[in-house]
Parts: sequence; C-alpha cells; structure tokens
Amino acid sequence: MNEMETYRRRVEEAATFLTARFRERPEIILIMGTGLGGLAAHLDNPQTIPYAEIPHFPRSTVTSHAGNLLFGTLGGKRVAALQGRFHYYEGYSARELTFPVRVLSQLGAGMMLVSNAAGGLNPAYAPGSLMILRDHINLIPDNPLRGINIDAWGPRFPDLSAAYDPELIDRIMACAAKLGLANMECGVYVAIPGPSLETPAETRYLRQIGADAVGMSTVPEVIVARHAGLKVLGVSVVSNVNDPDNQQPILLEEIIAQTEQTAARLVRLLLEFFKEL
Ligand code: HPA
Repeated sequence: MNEMETYRRRVEEAATFLTARFRERPEIILIMGTGLGGLAAHLDNPQTIPYAEIPHFPRSTVTSHAGNLLFGTLGGKRVAALQGRFHYYEGYSARELTFPVRVLSQLGAGMMLVSNAAGGLNPAYAPGSLMILRDHINLIPDNPLRGINIDAWGPRFPDLSAAYDPELIDRIMACAAKLGLANMECGVYVAIPGPSLETPAETRYLRQIGADAVGMSTVPEVIVARHAGLKVLGVSVVSNVNDPDNQQPILLEEIIAQTEQTAARLVRLLLEFFKEL
C-alpha cells in the first residue's frame, strides 16, 4: 500500500470510530490553541475523548496543550472541539499534524473556527488584542496536500483566494462591535516553522512581507479545511507585540498568561457569534 492509501485508511478508521461513538454530526470544528483550552469549559453537554483513545490520532508533545477531543454544543451549535493541536516544530509533517482536521471534516462539519496565540507585528496592535484572520502567508516549509491527491477529499489545486470566509469575518466583526469589544483587529497571519522565536531582523522582514501577526500553527489546518470545502474563520490572541527596534525577550510564560487573560473576551465573542450563526 502506498503512503497516501495508508493515510486514507487511517483517516477512515478514526472517522468510523468517532461516528460510532457520537450519533450526532458536528456542525463546526473548533481548534483551541495555546492558552485557549479553557474554551472547553463553555461547551454544553460535553463528551470528552482523550486523543490516545482515537485510532491513529497523533499525541501532543507540548505541555501547554491538552490532548482531548470534545463533542458538545456552544451557543446551540454542535461542535467538535480539539483541545490541543499539533505543530510542525514538534516534528510532525504538515499532513500528520492535520490528521484530526481531516478526520473531523469527514464527519460532515461545514465550518472550522481556529484560534491561536500569536505575536503582533503591526505596531498599532496592543498585547491582548484579538485579530480576526483576513488572510495568511505560509512560511512553514511543508504543505499538508503534498503528495498524491485524494480526489474524494478535494481538488488537486484548491483555491485560496478567500481562505477565510468574508461573510463570517463580517459577522464576527459585527458581533465584536455589538459587544463593544476593544482592541479588535483584522489582519494577516504568517506561519513560521518555529520553535525558535523571531530575531529582530526576522520580525522586520515578516512585517515587510505584509503580516500583522506571527505564529507557528493554523495555516496547515486551514489548507486542509479549505481542501475539504469547509468555511474557515480564524482568530489570533495577540499575546505580545514585537518591536524590532526595541526587541524584548518573548517568554512562553508571558504568552500563556496574556492569552489566558484575553481568553474571556474571546469566549464572549464566540458565544455571541455562535448564537447568531
Ligand atoms: N512569535 C511566534 N509565535 C508566537 C509569538 C511570537 O511572538 N507569540 C505567540 N506565539
């Protein structure tokens, strides 16, 4: 069996397992990034499955990420939530790390909402801002669709002219305005491979190529979701803002603390958004 056939069989086995476990199909896939696992506490009627119990699921190697799949409802919508994601810097290929998204997309969800913690590059941003993703730049030297295309899953050359759904962006920005949330931004996310953080020269470069925030995730998952035909909405918690002319050390503890502090605002926004969806 070739590599893609093996991958396909694994995806199908995991999807079959989850279909047997949960009778109701999720409408929305929710990916909870660094510091955002607390969103899980807001799910109604949650059912939890550790990743380790799901056939072929990867294992998280990062302590700031739990490893659970949750099914439940949020604002009345059926959600499959990934509490803990996988990153390129952990050693996974882009295809391996997007395995959960591929599996959940097979269960019939029509939308994916992805969150992450990111570093601000736009000097107008403040730490603790929420940035809705308008677009992305992939600097991770891999693509989850590299290799033989499985036509049943999506097209060989998926269009990314509107990777982040413009209507969903308008709606969530309208929700933020309605709630009167401060520091709401809409910008471009650039994904770097990590795990080392940016040098001042790299920060300057990432800003010059058009990015407003930088992180080490999200783009591979978005590519798979778009390939599978899901509408995508992305939101970054801007945990720190990097000034290349006065670069301060970027500390993981501070990223997590700031993200957790901002998570409450994100939860309010998402609950309102899901209610109105
Ligand atoms: N750089 C990259 N990833 C990040 C950062 C950053 O400054 N902050 C949070 N995730």
